[in-house]
Amino acid sequence: MRVFKDHMPLFVKVQPRQISLLFLFRLKSDPPLDKGVIPWLGHALEFGKDAAKFLSRMKQKHGDIFTVRVAGRYVTVLLDPHSYDAVIDDPVSLDFTRYAQVLMDRIFNLQLPHHQGAKAKAMMKQHFQGANLVWLNGTVHKHLWALLKAETLQNQTDWKEEGLFNFSYSLLFKLGYLTLFGGEQNNNGTDPSDVYKEYRKFDRLLTKMARATLKPDEKRTAQSVRQRLWELLAPAGLSADSGSSPWLQGYRQQLQEEGADEEVQRKAVLLQLWATQGNVGPAAFWLLGYLLTNPEALTAVRREFSRISQMETSQTPLLDSLVHTPVFDSALEEALRLTAAPFITREVVQEKTLHMADGKEYLLRKGDRVCLFPFSSPQMDPEIHHEPQKYKYDRFLNEDGSERRDFYKGGRRLKYYTMPWGAGTNGCVGKQFAINTIRQFVYMVLTYYDFELCDPNAQMPEVDASRYGFGMLQPKGDLFIRYKAKSSLYDC
Ligand code: HEM
Repeated sequence: MRVFKDHMPLFVKVQPRQISLLFLFRLKSDPPLDKGVIPWLGHALEFGKDAAKFLSRMKQKHGDIFTVRVAGRYVTVLLDPHSYDAVIDDPVSLDFTRYAQVLMDRIFNLQLPHHQGAKAKAMMKQHFQGANLVWLNGTVHKHLWALLKAETLQNQTDWKEEGLFNFSYSLLFKLGYLTLFGGEQNNNGTDPSDVYKEYRKFDRLLTKMARATLKPDEKRTAQSVRQRLWELLAPAGLSADSGSSPWLQGYRQQLQEEGADEEVQRKAVLLQLWATQGNVGPAAFWLLGYLLTNPEALTAVRREFSRISQMETSQTPLLDSLVHTPVFDSALEEALRLTAAPFITREVVQEKTLHMADGKEYLLRKGDRVCLFPFSSPQMDPEIHHEPQKYKYDRFLNEDGSERRDFYKGGRRLKYYTMPWGAGTNGCVGKQFAINTIRQFVYMVLTYYDFELCDPNAQMPEVDASRYGFGMLQPKGDLFIRYKAKSSLYDC
């Protein structure tokens, strides 16, 4: 409709945005509008190629709020973290689900009704937070132990060489799969390594699926990979002896009670595989990579881990989420500050006046989208984080070793100084589970493996710029590591 209105003759009733354009001045309440030169597509190509670069160019041109046209849609981008609550705290005018449904359809070929999403989220909260998290941590630990043993041979003296991204992603994916979807290996006839291989093919096409920019041959690949994953995931959660987690069994049961057929259920299970596994492996990669390329940081984290293992008698001291690891927490927060780059997007379902922290007011129009990009600000904002490109493992630590939470912009203390998990009602439900899993993984790898860079002078690889906006970034190349198990891994 918007496209059509753009070309309406003057005498037809037009909305204020078009009037202001025609007369070359803007109504006070409209954010600056930048339509780009290509009709309909607008800025879609530049946006898709490297959204971080594009948005920083727009910020320089227009300031902290502007509206761009992207593939026929108007997207208002807000980059002032002092004003983020106006978007995050308004689930009434700004709807998350409406936008998520479009992606769900494009990526998973799935249409779930609105209320299904709310029910699924409530169930997830119940299983991934509070007391149930203790059970999950224990299951993660059991599988992690077995997976690390399976990676190497006892008494093996040779180093094993591998890319760190594949090492971290494949191990954590298999770990998450066994914990939540599959139980013991081959229990439901599905080898986690097969699921990982197919999932990575799917993952590589994900951004193009979301943007609906697949080429014909990629479209065919996407369809066949999805089909294969649906088959592999078919038994997951179906019965108690599938070895799946109580969460997945409950989710499947909920879908069945809602009348979802077998096909819809499989598609929904793939959606959950992506939601629970898509970010953890890449996050662990960036953290380990920054530690290995910053010896001071690695030493500090190792020192904290060994102090804890000396104090605790158990061989699994980090299983207990109450054990405090402020150095590790800061090192992880810093890795995520540099590499977590989700868009926080909402659909405007009723017209809204956006009140900015500086007192200005802007109109958000029904049918448009509003998008926050915390990677740009606060995460990479030099006014908030000194030398933002640099990895400083202790950036989130005070001198006395406690967590640092005071960061400022424009002389005012910030509520949001880094936002890898989103925030507000749609913030990440799996945050604590993800942190616990990454913490156990890094602890076990550094404690039970000899683990080092193949080239001690290697640098972190560049990021794949096409993934800005899709959660955790992924590298363009890889960082090569070598490892072998210490005998203590096999002692228990
Ligand atoms: C390092 C790992 C992870 C990162 C960086 C991450 C990040 C995020 C972010 C940024 C959002 C908010 C999206 C928005 O507001 O638009 C989100 C939502 C969500 N995350 Fe995570 N996540 C991670 C791991 C997980 C895990 C392990 C689970 C499940 C066990 C999970 C479950 C969810 C769910 C269900 C939502 C949607 C919440 C809703 O519907 O409102 N995440 N995550």
